Amino acid sequence: MTQSIQRDLQHVAIIMDGNGRWAVKRGLERLDGHMRGARMVKKIVKASKTFGVKHLTLYAFSTENWKRSEKEVSGLMRIFRRYILAESADMLAEGVRMKFIGCREPLDPKLRKLIDWIEEQTAHNTTLELNIALNYGGRDELVRASQKMATAVQAGDIAPEEITEDTINQYLDTAGTPDPDLVIRTSGEYRTSNFLPWQSAYAEYAFVEESWPDFTVAIYEQTLAEFRSRERRFGSVIGK
Ligand code: IPE
Ligand code: IPE
Ligand code: MG
Repeated sequence: MTQSIQRDLQHVAIIMDGNGRWAVKRGLERLDGHMRGARMVKKIVKASKTFGVKHLTLYAFSTENWKRSEKEVSGLMRIFRRYILAESADMLAEGVRMKFIGCREPLDPKLRKLIDWIEEQTAHNTTLELNIALNYGGRDELVRASQKMATAVQAGDIAPEEITEDTINQYLDTAGTPDPDLVIRTSGEYRTSNFLPWQSAYAEYAFVEESWPDFTVAIYEQTLAEFRSRERRFGSVIGK
């Protein structure tokens, strides 16, 4: 099974949804759900390695999530800081390269420093690339990429007619990472909430009912197996 998954499943992207509802259902605070959710990440990272996934992108905080209460937002930022600190040794030992996508400017300087540090520490790891989407929004990413491209045109570095799909890929936060093959969303919501809209143009989607804190390695494996049974055509006709 591992071998066959390895063949055509390079990049999995996950919208880790449902932490809040998981907690509220149990009479806990939403932040308890986020803490539980953060603990899940390690298991899924390890399992991804086992299943031969080379790139894993996790949606941790969207550009829209600032609309939440100050308490929830600051609690989440604290969790992200703690996560980086607590997991850094493991990431290094496991050969995980950690990268962040999304706009960093509005983040707390302490968190930004940690992000820069862990990216640098793990830059030479090659077993698995773990991309954390933090203050990420697909539309915001396209706006920032367009601004950078416009600056390059203005400077005379590229001509407008030279801009291709590949040029756009190079200006996105995900430059150098292949497009996701499979996007998984937990917690029974059937929407993509501004996650990798350009990159997922030809991705397969899997919507699972379990909330993120209840997402197990077994469910993950089942989801990958179900993906493998699908026929991907990319606009062509099979058998040609
Ligand atoms: C996902 O869980 C985590 C973040 C968005 C940070 P939610 O917090 O969205 O949980 P629900 O959807 O409210 O249950
Ligand atoms: C998407 O979940 C963002 C993350 C999982 C980080 P949301 O819970 O914010 O999305 P909506 O509000 O249900 O669309
Ligand atoms: Mg949600």
